[in-house]
Amino acid sequence: MGCVWLLLVSVCAVSVCAVSGLDKLNMCMDAKHHKTEPAPEGALYEQCFPWRSNACCTANTTEEAHADNSNLYNFNWNHCGIMADRCKRHFIQDTCFYECSPHLGPWIQKVDQSWRKERIVDVPLCQEDCESWYSDCRDSITCKQDWHTGWNWTGGINKCPDGAKCRTFAEVFGSAKTMCEVIWSKSYRYTTLEKSSGRCMQLWFEGPTNPNLEVARYYLNHAPSQAIGMATTLLLPLLLSLLHAGIPF
Ligand SMILES: *[C@@H]1O[C@H](CO)[C@@H](O)[C@H](O)[C@H]1NC(C)=O
Ligand SMILES: *[C@@H]1O[C@H](CO)[C@@H](O)[C@H](O)[C@H]1NC(C)=O
Repeated sequence: MGCVWLLLVSVCAVSVCAVSGLDKLNMCMDAKHHKTEPAPEGALYEQCFPWRSNACCTANTTEEAHADNSNLYNFNWNHCGIMADRCKRHFIQDTCFYECSPHLGPWIQKVDQSWRKERIVDVPLCQEDCESWYSDCRDSITCKQDWHTGWNWTGGINKCPDGAKCRTFAEVFGSAKTMCEVIWSKSYRYTTLEKSSGRCMQLWFEGPTNPNLEVARYYLNHAPSQAIGMATTLLLPLLLSLLHAGIPF
């Protein structure tokens, strides 16, 4: 009898772990424009096309992602004059990645913000993507390092706050690492990992297979919290069965 019980508890613990693990590999964060669950989208727009087979964004969101001052966040890329297209395409790609990715689970955290309940933190970006973003933007102009906060929104779109000088990205950020990590307040972590490593997230990839699924699976299986999960899975049934050993059924 005790054995059957032990078996039942073990099976339950294992299946709970497996289910939450699966969810973390294929889920949408609770934010402003995300769908509640990932699903195929027939016609994602231009740069967001690679996510079409499984996406947290709608077609409408991806079309807006390509527009200046889009209705997604009323964010103005051209706050220090027109941003060059070769730079802007990286911000469009970044928006596609943020809005569409179903494999950000390991880096999603709760957040107390008016416009979203969850955000991403420290997503390890592939070096190529961060470096090409910076090198294509070095000569573009901005006035701030952290684009999440500190803007003057009194006119409805973000303007540089009084006293913030417009300078080149190279002057404002100084390095690809600083740009990728600071611009969205630590959403991304700079790495020296290459795409071929399978250990970093790709902003740019060719569909239809999303390489970031396997990267997320790797980090989920190697996360510090996983050790606790494993210990609970193995120890809880043991503890319970010990407790039960003295109690006759
Ligand atoms: C997306 O949807 C919003 C609200 O329904 C609408 O105002 C906007 O025009 C749409 N954008 C595109 C590009 O279709
Ligand atoms: C915000 O912009 C308005 C003009 O649009 C200006 O009058 C105001 O001083 C600015 N405030 C800050 C804090 O920059």
